[in-house]
Amino acid sequence: MAMQTKGRNRKAVLAELRKIREQDLKYRDGRILCSMCTEPHPTAKIAHQMFLSSNLGDAGLFPGTLRLEKEAISKLAGLLHGESSAGFIVSGGTEANLLALLAARNTADVSSPEVILPQSAHFSFSKICSLLRIKPVQASLDSAFRVDPASVRHCINRNTIAVVGTVGTAELGAVDPIDKLSDIALEYEVYLHVDAALGGLILPFLKNAPAFDFRLKGVKSITVDPHKMGLATVPAGGILFRDSACLEHIKTETPYLTEDVQYTFVGTKSGASVAATWAVFESLGREGFTKTVNRCLRLTKTLSASLESRGFNLVTKPALNIVAFRSSNSKLLVKALRQRGWFVSYVPRLDCVRIIVMPHLRKRHVAAFLKDLSEIPERF
Ligand SMILES: Cc1ncc(COP(=O)(O)O)c(C=O)c1O
Repeated sequence: MAMQTKGRNRKAVLAELRKIREQDLKYRDGRILCSMCTEPHPTAKIAHQMFLSSNLGDAGLFPGTLRLEKEAISKLAGLLHGESSAGFIVSGGTEANLLALLAARNTADVSSPEVILPQSAHFSFSKICSLLRIKPVQASLDSAFRVDPASVRHCINRNTIAVVGTVGTAELGAVDPIDKLSDIALEYEVYLHVDAALGGLILPFLKNAPAFDFRLKGVKSITVDPHKMGLATVPAGGILFRDSACLEHIKTETPYLTEDVQYTFVGTKSGASVAATWAVFESLGREGFTKTVNRCLRLTKTLSASLESRGFNLVTKPALNIVAFRSSNSKLLVKALRQRGWFVSYVPRLDCVRIIVMPHLRKRHVAAFLKDLSEIPERF
């Protein structure tokens, strides 16, 4: 479609946009059961609007927004026990993981670098390995779909530049034994990155959660995404390094900008979602997050128990807010649900249906889903 010669008036443009927006799903309708993003917190939406023109790619022009980023990172560091850690709000978990492996690779300076990834690692690592020319080496999982530390140990060699563990795997929400990985990392003096894109804003609000953060001495960096369980606007990922020494390995000089260096991969960078992240942290505080997280986990329990009582097999007991189950034909069941307006995922690797219980889901949505599910023929 070619650009028209004359512009249209604002009313017409906005009216068309409103119409087109109707084609998109809305989180608030409770039909999106397959996304790690969610409806942003109401204050995040206002904050986003307020900082729409702010670009942290040229941070010297936006010292106010830069302050918000520093404060948001400092709050995340507090949650993750990173007293001297440094980091950035980035475009998402993919960029956060990329920066971590870039730091690991540049620190190690090995000519044929390899990274040990659990079989359950997020696909962003495939992109990253291809970009950074790092060989991925797969470590196997235990019966609860967590990485097997013995397998990780077995994979280590002199080319290993990093080990990755996940807190909230994308397919099942499994939590790898980061304490064991930390011990291995210390023993072999290898970089340990924790991808807590999802779980990093869940575990800190749970009683008796396993340690996965900078309390474990082997952990060098953590991905934790405000645009997932942090209720921020998109794009807001987070990367935290144990200390600022790591930053030396990811910096790029930016000679003609207001700041001399950039540490993130993207250049021009949204200040709006940074402000939104800060706004959610201020609005919710630990109490608000604890409430939100526990509500999601209670609903996860209700959903998984109801599925089991209807004869579906859970792939594993949910560790976080993801329910994965099988029917006699999971792929067809996903299609049948889609026809009824429910968006759940089919996970080919595990041949199962996956549901992520994000904060936009309410009891009534889960009840309506279960009712529709029970009306789908037996053979699925
Ligand atoms: C564990 C994990 N890591 C990384 C990512 C990538 O995050 P993003 O899509 O924000 O780049 C995801 C996305 O779902 C994820 O679940």
